[in-house]
Amino acid sequence: MRRPFFCGNWKLNGSIAESLALATDVRNGVATLREVDVAVAPSFTALYAVAKRLEDGPVTVAAQDCFWEDKGAFTGEVAPGQLADAGCKYVILGHSERRQLFGELDAAVNLKARAAVRAGLSPIICVGETLAERDAGETIGRIQAQLDAALADMDNAALERVVVAYEPVWAIGTGRTATADTAQEAHAFVKSLYPTAVLYGGSVKPENARTLLAQPDVDGALVGGASLDPASFEAICLAGAEVAA
Ligand code: PGA
Repeated sequence: MRRPFFCGNWKLNGSIAESLALATDVRNGVATLREVDVAVAPSFTALYAVAKRLEDGPVTVAAQDCFWEDKGAFTGEVAPGQLADAGCKYVILGHSERRQLFGELDAAVNLKARAAVRAGLSPIICVGETLAERDAGETIGRIQAQLDAALADMDNAALERVVVAYEPVWAIGTGRTATADTAQEAHAFVKSLYPTAVLYGGSVKPENARTLLAQPDVDGALVGGASLDPASFEAICLAGAEVAA
């Protein structure tokens, strides 16, 4: 069984001071959980400070996006190498909020993912269907299309760094979670195509974490809302540690 991995996606939340306080709480909360890996994804402005606070500890740092070029005239963009320099180990890519609100396309996710790997980061690549796609029976096709596009032209060494997050769009921030069976089915499908770890994301809470994590192909969680509450995030990580034990 894979080592469970939990990443808190803090989205657009928190001052530097608030992010440091939350990071410290997370670090202290999961300090005794040796069976799981834990990362937090603060806003760009807090990345360096949080990475410094967490250095030498078990909790690592993820960014929430990056660009694909290393440098140049790209006002407003942040390069993967800059994220690595700031102390990041991971970068979340292709989150459905970026796809839906900012028009991010699969081709961009692929360029970003390959650039992230070149910079030594591990991309956490988000895929998942909308409610309309699920109702139309297009879930599997949608996941495969997103994966094939995002992971195009990556060799096995690159794929080894990739983490996939299955995040059904209808479950993100809605309080609606995929059933364990629904998640398992999607995760098994991802793994039939690519040799990656697969996290589940979408309204993961302490109350539903254990059932989801008990599925054989659910390797951890990408946690949004509940990761802003250190006790909830810790409880989710604990559920993972107990399932792994
Ligand atoms: P949520 O977000 O846990 O608040 O549903 C998950 C995500 O967007 O990664």
